Amino acid sequence: MKKKIFFAFTIALSTLAIGYNAHPQEDMELVDNSVFGNPRRPPAVFRHDAHNERAQIEECGVCHHVYDGNGQRVEDESSEDQRCSDCHELETSGRQPALMKAFHTNCKGCHKLKNRGPTMCGQCHVRGSVGTN
Ligand code: HEC
Ligand code: HEC
Ligand code: HEC
Ligand code: HEC
Repeated sequence: MKKKIFFAFTIALSTLAIGYNAHPQEDMELVDNSVFGNPRRPPAVFRHDAHNERAQIEECGVCHHVYDGNGQRVEDESSEDQRCSDCHELETSGRQPALMKAFHTNCKGCHKLKNRGPTMCGQCHVRGSVGTN
């Protein structure tokens, strides 16, 4: 009996997890970490739209950037239709930082600059968040 309930609970949880990944960014709660293969940390909490509204970031290109050949960010252009991992590989490649560094520089960099938002590992990689452990 107990086993059955546990099983049902597991199914419910995994349905939730799949749901989150399949939804557009309005429902994004976490940054998908599956591209890391064997992630060491729980995925980072990131409620996309709510975060950006509260942080008052209007330009998508602040995160979904596009660079020209001279390494200058092109204003008013956005790569929102691409994953960060479409360009950033697991290792550094030319001027493109490795994927983990790209995330950390983007997220923590702004939080430090503005002195708002989390900068400690466990505040972003929250144990027990939906997804992995
Ligand atoms: C279309 C390809 C592309 C996508 C998609 C992309 N990047 Fe980049 N990113 C680049 C390139 C190219 C550079 C190097 C720019 C230069 O020449 O200095 C870069 C540089 C960076 C840097 C270092 C410079 C800086 O802005 O501080 C960070 C951090 C970064 N990317 C984070 C991210 C994150 C996070 C995402 C996803 C939200 C992302 N990138 C998506 C191409 C991309
Ligand atoms: C503070 C950084 C940030 C800003 C600003 C931002 N995004 Fe994102 N967005 C992300 C990250 C990180 C992801 C996940 C990328 C990945 O997994 O490679 C994402 C994913 C997405 C996705 C894919 C959703 C999914 O479920 O896979 C879309 C679409 C998107 N963003 C659109 C936008 C639009 C449109 C704007 C501007 C109105 C915007 N974003 C502003 C960080 C940002
Ligand atoms: C351009 C600046 C900027 C970038 C880039 C950015 N943040 Fe933030 N973030 C903020 C600010 C400002 C706050 C504080 C908002 C407030 O006062 O509630 C914040 C708050 C947060 C919070 C706590 C409040 C909440 O919304 O849950 C989390 C978690 C967070 N950020 C995660 C991330 C992650 C993960 C990324 C990278 C994918 C990221 N942030 C990128 C500016 C930024
Ligand atoms: C501002 C939020 C934020 C903070 C603070 C932060 N990270 Fe991350 N980290 C991310 C995001 C976003 C990713 C991309 C994928 C994911 O885990 O969701 C990531 C990816 C990683 C990865 C690669 C994926 C994995 O799990 O193997 C590791 C390892 C990692 N972080 C470790 C750390 C450690 C250690 C600290 C503290 C020194 C830290 N992070 C602090 C947001 C953060």
